[in-house]
Amino acid sequence: MRVLVIGSGAREHALLLALQRDPGVTGLICAPGNAGTAAIAEQRAVDVASGEAVAELAKDVAADLVVIGPEVPLVLGVADAVRAAGIACFGPSADAARIEGSKAFAKDVMAAADVRTAHSEIVDNPAKLDAALDRFGPTWVVKDDGLAAGKGVVVTPDRAAARAHAADLLENGHPVLLESFLDGPEVSLFSIVDGETVVPLIPAQDHKRVGDGDSGPNTGGMGAYTPLPWLPDETVDEIVEKVVRPVATEMARRGVPFSGLLYAGLAIGADGPAVVEFNCRFGDPETQAVLALLESPLGELLNAAAKGTLAQVSAPRWKDGAAVTVVLAAENYPGPPRTGDTITGADAEGVLHAGTKRVDGQVVSAGGRVLSVVGTGADLVAARDQAYERLSHVDLPGGHFRTDIGLAAVEGRITL
Ligand code: GLY
Repeated sequence: MRVLVIGSGAREHALLLALQRDPGVTGLICAPGNAGTAAIAEQRAVDVASGEAVAELAKDVAADLVVIGPEVPLVLGVADAVRAAGIACFGPSADAARIEGSKAFAKDVMAAADVRTAHSEIVDNPAKLDAALDRFGPTWVVKDDGLAAGKGVVVTPDRAAARAHAADLLENGHPVLLESFLDGPEVSLFSIVDGETVVPLIPAQDHKRVGDGDSGPNTGGMGAYTPLPWLPDETVDEIVEKVVRPVATEMARRGVPFSGLLYAGLAIGADGPAVVEFNCRFGDPETQAVLALLESPLGELLNAAAKGTLAQVSAPRWKDGAAVTVVLAAENYPGPPRTGDTITGADAEGVLHAGTKRVDGQVVSAGGRVLSVVGTGADLVAARDQAYERLSHVDLPGGHFRTDIGLAAVEGRITL
């Protein structure tokens, strides 16, 4: 099976590495990719937002399966275009991708499926902002009601900061979503879904703030670890039965069945799991940790979901132990990142590329999140040790990373 992976992040690098381990995968192509993916897959240029261009490329490289990594092409219907060209595609239709692309759609599906989530209101008129803010708080959750790669979210106890962010979004023409704050540790649970068949992967936790101790602004994710020693197996079962399966069933009932990766972002509060958000694709950077522990063939799983035969594939098998990924970000990220710096040590094992390109044989930074360094081990302590040891051999001028990925779990500071 020849697989074309669409995207250019460390998530796509992780997908390619896992696909490479699948004996059923005979060819790997990545578009547009980065300096790391170019080392393991044929690299092609493509406009990821164009369904026509991706479908043409899939035909040109004789792909048997297309795997779409990022949300933007999914929301724009690129998976529909690939399927219309007669090629199997892992990724939801544009209609189903609204579970991420439209907060209003996601809330409506959750209400119909009786899934616990935050109370929310959309504000699109600046004159109504203050009254709406008064109905929330004292911790305010202010989101861009569209795709913002995690960076459009501000969670703050400071009303003035919440107001400033909301006003800024409105001024730039973006409707604002205000949400009640969900307390409790966060979990990312990915499930491969094909209609009403749901296959959960192992749960992970992302670290969204830029600085140690969850300080500073939100980012796309600064690191992740899996599994979660503080999360009982029954809670994962509860998430599948009370959240993921009801949502998949409700989407199928509405005639917009979900096929692809359904990412449930949850807070585990005193009353059990509640949904913070759904995404319609693999999470980044959780995927880099989750797939590092996958033992069974990824291509078989994704292909089965794409072809509607997921129910016939055995459940994924996982290596014992733990995995940790630490993101190395460019100077000034999550603001406009400094780019063009030469990176050393980026071709080593466990170093996955995101914002990189190769210039005259050198790896050069080309984005905000530059690398994802992955470590595995018998437990979280060993996995952290390996990730940070590997990171110590990488140099990116001006680069920064969190030193506490997975640390709260190691120190038993996460309790339910
Ligand atoms: N880890 C956050 C995301 O993928 O959206």
